[in-house]
Amino acid sequence: MIAFSCFDDKKYRVWLLFLFPDFAQNDPMQSVDRTGAAPLRQKGRALGRRARSAEAQRLSRAQRLYDEGTFAAADTLYGQILIRNPAHLAALRGRAAALTSLSEMARTDRNGKLVDDLNAVADQCYARGLYAAAQDCYQRVLELAPDRCDAVWGIAECHAAQDEVDRAITWYRRYLDFVPDEPEALHMLAALGDRPPPGRASDGYVAAYFDRFAEDFDRQLVDELDYQAPQLLYDAVAPCINEVGLQLDILDLGCGTGLCGCLFRRHANRLDGADLSPVMLEHARERGVYDTLTAGEISTHLMGLPHQYDVLIAGDVLAYFGRLSGLFRGVARAAREGALFAFSVESQRRSGYRLTPSGRYTHGRRYITRLAAAAGLREVSVTREQLRYEYGEPVMGDIWVFEKLPV
Ligand SMILES: C[S@@+](CC[C@H](N)C(=O)[O-])C[C@H]1O[C@@H](n2cnc3c(N)ncnc32)[C@H](O)[C@@H]1O
Repeated sequence: MIAFSCFDDKKYRVWLLFLFPDFAQNDPMQSVDRTGAAPLRQKGRALGRRARSAEAQRLSRAQRLYDEGTFAAADTLYGQILIRNPAHLAALRGRAAALTSLSEMARTDRNGKLVDDLNAVADQCYARGLYAAAQDCYQRVLELAPDRCDAVWGIAECHAAQDEVDRAITWYRRYLDFVPDEPEALHMLAALGDRPPPGRASDGYVAAYFDRFAEDFDRQLVDELDYQAPQLLYDAVAPCINEVGLQLDILDLGCGTGLCGCLFRRHANRLDGADLSPVMLEHARERGVYDTLTAGEISTHLMGLPHQYDVLIAGDVLAYFGRLSGLFRGVARAAREGALFAFSVESQRRSGYRLTPSGRYTHGRRYITRLAAAAGLREVSVTREQLRYEYGEPVMGDIWVFEKLPV
């Protein structure tokens, strides 16, 4: 049994209590009480209460200072709360308001500190869904420093997140005035219907987007969005490969940080990964489960491979592909006879595929079976599953398994 130390496992225990309320009755800490942990725990609770009440006092003092127009002091106090608790939304909103007010009084910002603070707070507000506060701060940034294109990008993203399509288009276009042909802005303009959708997300878009996202990918996807694709793919493939019981050559297409690789490693004689994002690959490398990792575009990678695989997987990768013919042909080329190809897609009822305003593609089932058959792949299974959450809503998709037919 896991030995719970007094405080090291506190977070873990809070999670267990959240997930399994009954856990309290079987709390392993009870057995530790005999060794004198109970007074420590009480002390911990008292400290927690004191910290919360100090935080509440600091918050009301900050609000008072703000109401009195002492914006710099209010900003400092809100900032102190956020250092201890970055997810404190009232403090974040308060800091955004204090900085906005400060910036309204400042005609210039010689050393750029105010602009940097405003932009950083705007980014934090955006990340926590406080779009109105984020927009106010980005606007102030632009008034003080009209060449800050990151604030232009921020405003575009706020509008896009709130489905304000026309405004988002205006601001993404404005961003292109600063950075012509920037791949992320071009992709978002296509996703919002301002230009024809490409057959797949460009290499530049995928690399830039996931390089930026990589540091936070596992935390956001697994902890916050309940990302299930790797486990669902594993569950779909495991019955077939357990039966065979062999050590297999496995290729993880668009391996990202290696969440799929971790699950499939136990069946692998050889496990290779390929991805366009160097920073995602760095994280995959740190896991130490892959034999090789290749930086590159997967359709091209598949066409140039010197050997074939028994299992090919692609977890949440086809969301960055519209047209699938080239990818499926590449998979068929790199798959041994009888090999399995498992992947997830975000589904749509209509046939064909569509680039949605989220910047990801959805696919209809008929489209997938038609193209797979043309590439020499036979359907083994398809199930409708909840892949993850987005803005609090479940994202539904299909988990497909195909088998390579004899040529
Ligand atoms: C949402 S992540 C999923 C990562 C991983 N498969 C998982 O399930 O955790 C999508 C990954 O696909 C990669 N990707 C998307 N399109 C690609 C392409 N055309 N070639 C190579 N990698 C691609 C991205 O860089 C990103 O790492």
